[in-house]
Amino acid sequence: MTAEILSTHTPALFQQAVRRAAELLRAGEVVALPTETVYGLAANALDENAVAKIFEIKGRPAHNPIIVHVAGNEMAKRCVQNFSTAAEKFSKSFWPGPLTLVLPRAETIPDNVTAGGATVGVRWPSHPFIQAVIRECSFPLAAPSANLSNQISPTNAAHVRAQLGGKIPLIVDGGQSQVGIESTVLDLTVSPPRILRPGMIHAESLAAVAGEISNFKFQISNSALRSPGLLEKHYSPKAKLVVLVWQNDTDLQSQIRNSKFETRNCFVIAHTKIPAGFPAENVSVIPHDAEAFARALYAELHRCDAAGAKLIVVEALPESPEWSGIADRLRRAAA
Ligand code: TXA
Ligand code: MG
Repeated sequence: MTAEILSTHTPALFQQAVRRAAELLRAGEVVALPTETVYGLAANALDENAVAKIFEIKGRPAHNPIIVHVAGNEMAKRCVQNFSTAAEKFSKSFWPGPLTLVLPRAETIPDNVTAGGATVGVRWPSHPFIQAVIRECSFPLAAPSANLSNQISPTNAAHVRAQLGGKIPLIVDGGQSQVGIESTVLDLTVSPPRILRPGMIHAESLAAVAGEISNFKFQISNSALRSPGLLEKHYSPKAKLVVLVWQNDTDLQSQIRNSKFETRNCFVIAHTKIPAGFPAENVSVIPHDAEAFARALYAELHRCDAAGAKLIVVEALPESPEWSGIADRLRRAAA
C-alpha cells in the first residue's frame, strides 16, 4: 500500500480531502489526519475492528488506551458516562484545544479504545480539518499520534509518510502542527484530579480555571501505570539525546568531548547560547519562547534522525510552568 497524500490549502481541496477521509473512515479504514498538537492516526472510535488496525499499524501495546476525538460537547457527552461539573468547566475554557479529559467511559466505547479500563480520554481538537471530518462522519475518532510506537510524534505530513506511508491508504496534509507536542492529559476520575501527561496547557492554567471549583487541587502523576504515555523512554529519537547547560562554545565543546557519548555527527538544539563551533547544518536555533519551541522541537528531532545524528545536545530549558510540557518530552527522549 502507498498512502495517497491530499492537501487542504484551498476550500475545494479541503472539501475533497474531508470527503475522501470520511469515506475511508466509514469503511473501517485508518487514515492520518492533522491536529493542532501532532498528526493523528484515526479510525472510527465506535468500531472495534477499525481501532484494532491502529494497534497493528503502530505496533502499539494493547494496554495503552487511545484518545477519542470529538467535535463538540454533545459528542463528548455521548462517549462518557457522566460529564461532570469539572469537565464542563475545563471544556469551556480549553476546548477546542490541546486538553484531553479522562472520564468514566460510556458503554458504546469499545474495550480496545480504553485498553479494557473503565475510563476514556476525550478531546475536542481545534484543527479545522479533523473537526470537519468528525462532523462529516458524525462518529468520534480514536486517534493516537501517527507514528510507530515509541518514536517521535509527527508534526507534518512528511513525518507521517516517512514512518507509515506504506501502511495506510491516506495521509491528509494540514500543514505544520501549531502546538507541536501532544495534549495535556487530565484525569478527572480521581480526586484530586491528576495530570497524567503535561502539555502546553500547564498546571497553573488548569489551576486558574479549577480555582473556581471548591477545594480543587492537582497532583501531577508520578505513577507510570496510570497512563502508559508516562512510561519512561517514550517519544525517542534514534540518536542519544542529552540536555546540557553551557556558558560558551569552549565549555560546550569540552562537555561533549568529556562525555561518554559517541560524539561523531553531533547536533545541537539551542535557544539562547548559540554555538558557533559546529557546522551550520548541525545547529538548530529555536526562539526562546515556549510556544515557538514546542512547535519546532519534534521537526528538529526528526531532522536530526534523518541526518543520521548520533548525539543530540539540547540546551536546558527554563523551569517556568510554560516550559513544563516540553521539559517532560525532553526528559523522556533522554531516558
Ligand atoms: O495531542 C494528542 O493527544 C495526540 C493527538 C493526535 O490528539 N494524541 C496522542 O495520542 O498523543 P497517544 O496515543 O500518542 O497518547 C495518548 C496518551 C497515552 O499516554 C495514553 O496512555 C493516554 O493518553 N490515555 C489515553 N486514554 C487514557 C485513559 N482512559 N486513561 C489514562 N490515560 C489515557
Ligand atoms: Mg503517541
